[in-house]
Order: sequence, then structure tokens, then C-alpha cells
Amino acid sequence: MTRHLPLCAALAALLPALAPAAPDGAVDVDRIMRVAARKLAAFDASRADKSGYPTEAKGATWVTVPPKDWVSGFYPGALWYLYEYAQACQWPDAAAWRGRAEAWTAGLEAQQHNTGTHDLGFMMFDSYGNGHRLTQNADYVKVINQSAQSLAARYLPQARVIRSWGKVGDMDKALIIIDNMMNLELLLWASQHGGTAPGGTSEDLRTLALTHADRTIELFFRPDGSTYHVVELDPKTGTVQRKRTAQGKADESCWSRGQTWAIYGFAYLAEATGERRYLDASLKAARFYLDHLPADRVPPADYSSGLDGLEFKDSSAAAIALCAFFRLHRLVQDPALKKTYLDAALATLRALTSEPYFCPGDEHASLLRYAARNYHADPAHRLTNTSLIWGDYYLLEALLQYRALGAAR
Ligand code: GLY
Repeated sequence: MTRHLPLCAALAALLPALAPAAPDGAVDVDRIMRVAARKLAAFDASRADKSGYPTEAKGATWVTVPPKDWVSGFYPGALWYLYEYAQACQWPDAAAWRGRAEAWTAGLEAQQHNTGTHDLGFMMFDSYGNGHRLTQNADYVKVINQSAQSLAARYLPQARVIRSWGKVGDMDKALIIIDNMMNLELLLWASQHGGTAPGGTSEDLRTLALTHADRTIELFFRPDGSTYHVVELDPKTGTVQRKRTAQGKADESCWSRGQTWAIYGFAYLAEATGERRYLDASLKAARFYLDHLPADRVPPADYSSGLDGLEFKDSSAAAIALCAFFRLHRLVQDPALKKTYLDAALATLRALTSEPYFCPGDEHASLLRYAARNYHADPAHRLTNTSLIWGDYYLLEALLQYRALGAAR
């Protein structure tokens, strides 16, 4: 989730001039937001019962999943971003965007008690967290704090990590994945708003989140700055049993989306805590990502994929990296590094809002295409050549950051 400055409509009209020029031209935020509005509203209108949440589309229709799926927060989160934009631009239907966002957020309420997943950060903070940021609804605080407590129930004190995959109580194996970095914002926010760890305090919630992050630095980074996807630990001692992949090509290769979860997760943590070690971790991961990026700014699903072609790329990873680059641009002090990350953000934004990645028409339900669930060489593209809801969510987040940057200049 991002934090950005509110913008008035008059200022918004000036933004193409105020926003820093992308290397190959300014990005027309309003055009993209209007396409997003059309697509998000169409999905809402097609689902009177508001039960199935969009996850993936290979054409004009989203495949949907129940509220307990890890992706369920992205569509409500995207609706909140639209509400934010609509309000800033004084769209006459801004209230309708709030209504849609509230309705889809409410559908996740029961998940606050779900201790069976580490993804409560994605599910509950992109939805309720954005909702609270924009409305100050006090009822949302209770839901967020309970969600944080449910996530914290997965903490393994001896191993000093939050269990990512697997059941609470399994004392044979603990599976930790790099993606888990993205769920820490929920814990830190709750620790500052009265939330507590199970049987503990707010401070305990913060401590376990930061302990998990420190262990991630210790366990997941290779010397070249790339990251492992999965680390298997003995939950009783924290001893490493194996480091491997699940969604990448090979245990020692780099799954590009995992790399972007690391860049973003540590950039967030650096901003939230001011701790240099988290900034260094994000920069290390970002350096690897940028050094291996193809010219069109969108990575293959795995950096060792060896597969050419759009069908094997992951535009959703590029969208995640894009949001993190705006954050890194804000965080670093060195002017040359500031420019590196601003240039990286602008070039990526320009790529994702142009052909062939951006989909303005209704033949695609999504905003972005050419994404990959996992690395896969399958020519039938069961897991690749698709659109993923989180790609759209992070693209909208990045567009709002881009506008805030323009307003701040
Ligand atoms: N967090 C799951 C994924 O990135 O596919």
C-alpha cells in the first residue's frame, strides 16, 4: 500500500506538465485511470452477489476465487485507489467508487480470523488498510488488528520467522517464502494502532515483524543480490534444511516476482522504520533486478528462463518493482542513486502503460497482460501469457505515486 498526497482537481489538470518527464514522454494518468474505471466497474456490475474475487484473466473475463484466496484484497484495493483518484479529481461519481470499495472490502471481514495463511497482509491491508487510510473508518482498525493477531499466530519463536506455508502446529517443517516480506506492513501498522501479538503487546507485534525481516536478510539473499524463493527450516531450532524454488525455474535461479517482493518489502520497511539495513537489502535486490532487466523493462518470469518472447514475461513483477522504485527514489540521499531509481520508475511506468503490455480495450478484462503465475516452459501457457489482478493493483498504486511526485515538485 502506498501513501501519497491528496491532489486538487486544478492541480491534476497541470500534472502532465508537472510530473517529471519520462525518458520517452509523460504518462497520461487520466487516460489510464478512465480505462481502469471502466474495467473495474464492469466487473463489479457483473457480480451482484460480490462473492468471487478476480484473480486471473486470459481474455475478457476474470477467473474468480473465494475470499480466503491470497489475491482477494487486490480488487478491493484497486477500487480504493480508484476512489482516491476520483475524489482528488472531483469526479461526480466518487461516492459510487467508495461504495464499491466498501462492499468488496466487507466481503473479506471473516478472513480476520484466518490463521491458515501468511497472506493476510495482501488480503486485509490492501483492502481494509487502504480503506482506513482514505476514510478513517474506526471499525476497520478492529479488523486490521485482529488480522495482524491472526498472522502473528504463525510466528515460530525458536526459528524466529513467520511460517509462510503449512499449518500452524506442524513442528517437522517450516516453509518460509520471500513473498512474506509483503505481509509485514499489516503487523507494523497494527502495532502502532493498538494491535497486539497473541498473548502479548503491540511492541511484540513489531518485534516479531522486524525479527522476521532480519531473518529474511540472513536466509534469502545470495551474494549477487538475487534471492531464494523458499527456505525450509526446522521449526524447533531454525536450522536451515533446504533453500529452493517453487515458482521459479530452478533452486539456484531467480524467480523475478520473488525478487520484486524483496525489493518492495524491504523498501517499505526502510521507509517505515528508518533502518539502514532494510534500505541496503532493498537496494541490493533492486541492483540485481535492474542489472538483469531486458531492454523493454519487463523481466522474464525467471531470470534464467532462457525463453524469449512476451508469453514468458511477468508484467506483474514489473508493476511491483515500479512501486518500489518510487519509494527508493524517495529514500536514497545520493543524487545519482535518486536519479537511477526515478529513471527506473519512469521507464517502467512508460513501458507498462504502452503497447504491448497495456490493454485499453474490453477484449481484456485487465489493464496489463503478459504476466506469469510461475516460470513455466509449457508452450500451452497454462501458467504464463496471462493477466494477474495484482499487476493491475500495483500499476494503479504506481500511477498515484507518479501523480504525487508531480504535485510535490
Ligand atoms: N505471492 C504469490 C505469488 O507471487 O505468486
